[in-house]
Amino acid sequence: MDKIEITGGIRLHGEVTISGAKNAVLPIMTAAILSSGENIIKNVPNLRDVMTMGKLLAHLGFGFHLEDNQVLLQTQKVTSIEAPYDFVKTMRASVLVLGPLLARSGKARVSLPGGCAIGARPINLHIKGLEKMGAKITLSEGYIEATAKQLKGAAIYFDIPTVTGTENLMMAAALAKGTTLIENAACEPEVVDLANALISMGADIQGAGTSIIKITGVNKLRPLDYTVIPDRIETATFIAAAAITHGDIKINKCRPEHLEAVINKMKEAGVKITQKNDKLIIKGPERLSSIDIKTMPHPGFPTDMQAQFMAMMAIADGTSLITENIFENRFMHIAELKRMGADLQVEGSTATVKGVKTLTGAPVMATDLRASASLVVAALAAQGITVIDRVYHLDRGYERIENKLSLLGAKIRRIK
Ligand code: EPU
Repeated sequence: MDKIEITGGIRLHGEVTISGAKNAVLPIMTAAILSSGENIIKNVPNLRDVMTMGKLLAHLGFGFHLEDNQVLLQTQKVTSIEAPYDFVKTMRASVLVLGPLLARSGKARVSLPGGCAIGARPINLHIKGLEKMGAKITLSEGYIEATAKQLKGAAIYFDIPTVTGTENLMMAAALAKGTTLIENAACEPEVVDLANALISMGADIQGAGTSIIKITGVNKLRPLDYTVIPDRIETATFIAAAAITHGDIKINKCRPEHLEAVINKMKEAGVKITQKNDKLIIKGPERLSSIDIKTMPHPGFPTDMQAQFMAMMAIADGTSLITENIFENRFMHIAELKRMGADLQVEGSTATVKGVKTLTGAPVMATDLRASASLVVAALAAQGITVIDRVYHLDRGYERIENKLSLLGAKIRRIK
């Protein structure tokens, strides 16, 4: 298993270019199921999760090829309607095949995801929505078995806004008979990107990016030729890396408008941020100021940046309260950050972070994708050497992170 070794204390300087968004490309790849032909998706990051999704789509009978950040998907025929446990257990986003497979083939068999490192993460709302659209769904031997001769439009209200739930239903509704209304829909930029991709295929979707999405089903969708948005969480992770190292960096090819909550909080913490079209110029202060955050659905502060922000607050001036409202177990990084000298206490869903003068390098273990990103951010500022174990978590969501950080001057290497 690969490890990453970082020698901390170096001020980051230079330019970095942001890759395509993991959480946009995964649903867009599954949207290809709704078409029959050659799909082209551009600005695709070369990530473990993208490869896993490609293998899952190949298992369904599709041609999959990733080269030069471009994906080709040949979707002429479906030879299997099953997403086996082996895929779903390595990547929960595999459940995104449920809606489009059901819409295209009239049936789907998808392994029910188990719990995961950040919380229970049920998919009851995906299932309830599909049932409202006329699907018959049973649970058998750990699998969701769904059938529907023809999905029908329906009015669906989510008790909680769910990102992949909104995406699954939007895809199912795109080929359903009649109009579907999703209320309390997720408003994340990745949901909007999927809607735009579907619209480019000929779908009739209005309101994506607001809490009410209206989808009027069409008979047929054409294959994709679509360019994915830049990754807002990768962008924000680089902001954190520059902020914590008193760095001075330019971030190219990003979408600052997707990051308003993060940018505002970073500024409050003392980070200087200048925006020029699709570029951000970041200057970290000599010492960060402590501020409080609460994670919320978009446009609130994203849960996917909570861990990295905590690493920053660990060496900020004062005490910060960090509340995680989306997932019930997304504090696995705390035990590891403590091993690096952070002063952290958790009660319920709130962590109290008392800023210390410095963190020190230590051997630590990555537990999930964003937890590992927070350890990288902390290690960049820590005195001495940090070795991060289980970096395959990092490879799920950050393209060539050690190369990008090296170009910014960080002393970082992968140990095979
Ligand atoms: N929820 C339910 N029932 C459902 C669906 C969700 O109770 O049927 C709950 C969840 O347990 C959670 C909340 O609703 O408490 C929100 O979860 P959501 O469904 O929005 O999360 P997701 O769709 O499974 C996506 C991202 C996550 C990101 C969350 C929140 C993808 C592939 N994944 O997950 O990304 O944290 O939205 O923004 O888009 C990551 O990239 O590291 C990551 C975990």
